[in-house]
Amino acid sequence: MLKLSPTAAVRASLKGERFVVFQGDCRQLLAALPADSVSLIVSSPPYFMGKEYDRSDKHEDFAKEHRELAPLLTRVLRPGGSLCWQIGMHVASGTVIPLDYLAYAAFSIEPTLVLRNRIIWHFEHGFHARNRFSGRHETILWFTKGDDYTFNLDAVRVPQKYPGKRHYKGPKRGQFSGNPAGKNPGDMWSVPNVKSKHREKTNHPCQFPIGLPQRLIRALTNSGDLVLDPFAGSSSTGIAAAIEDRRFLGCEIESKYAKLSIERYKNWRAGQLPVRDWRLAAAAPDQRQSVARKPDHFWNAETRYHKS
Ligand SMILES: C[S@@+](CC[C@H](N)C(=O)[O-])C[C@H]1O[C@@H](n2cnc3c(N)ncnc32)[C@H](O)[C@@H]1O
Repeated sequence: MLKLSPTAAVRASLKGERFVVFQGDCRQLLAALPADSVSLIVSSPPYFMGKEYDRSDKHEDFAKEHRELAPLLTRVLRPGGSLCWQIGMHVASGTVIPLDYLAYAAFSIEPTLVLRNRIIWHFEHGFHARNRFSGRHETILWFTKGDDYTFNLDAVRVPQKYPGKRHYKGPKRGQFSGNPAGKNPGDMWSVPNVKSKHREKTNHPCQFPIGLPQRLIRALTNSGDLVLDPFAGSSSTGIAAAIEDRRFLGCEIESKYAKLSIERYKNWRAGQLPVRDWRLAAAAPDQRQSVARKPDHFWNAETRYHKS
């Protein structure tokens, strides 16, 4: 449900409403939430790069905003809960500034927050740079509030690369050595980003692929827990929470995206929202499609540039 008052949004959420979006400024929502009430915060804030919803294009303002947000976010997180902050690079006049460096500086001041991983999110599509290597990763900083935290590794295991591997010495010599449920997915995740051909594409300019927050939600919360996204956009985090039977409280300042969030949720409930399975690896190009096949002049150019 969509709420225009932060207290009404919080009340509805704490009463057990499964999917609530407050349309307004996240500082208002964070102030209305009781302390220690949220199990997981997953979000991607504005990068201050001059997008329609950015209030500034200066990385100094990103840093300032994060210094303000850090205590507000930490207050609402329950002990043992997690904060996952997804960010990329700020690029200005050819200079690249890694925003997670600035976010880390702000969050690490909080005495209760502990960094557990800096996850690399790798993807294939984006702007083709000419004067540097094209950017094909962003990061997720995963902090926990305290040391006694939820981590459901079994919920996110991935298939073993060599499932037939065996112990080669010791008392288990000859027995299979891998966990049959799969291995730890590691801290580098390849998840296709949402560009025009992606089945989850909406009119939001930088939405999460649902599978990205979904993996965090599976690992860091339990069924029925409350997941918060203070910069919800199209609420991909909320859809992931709904799929995984968690409650969602989102906040989005732009009316069109807050409404889009509710529309997506309704479509999901009706079984009509296209969602990419979070376990799927990036698909290899389909050679039956003409876009996947090399025209003759590509072969010639490759021979010219790649000869040693
Ligand atoms: C990077 S996008 C998040 C996209 C989101 N992860 C998704 O899957 O669609 C950041 C969003 O934060 C919203 N926003 C910016 N400032 C805000 C504020 N002060 N409070 C709440 N939302 C805000 C923007 O309108 C934008 O939709």
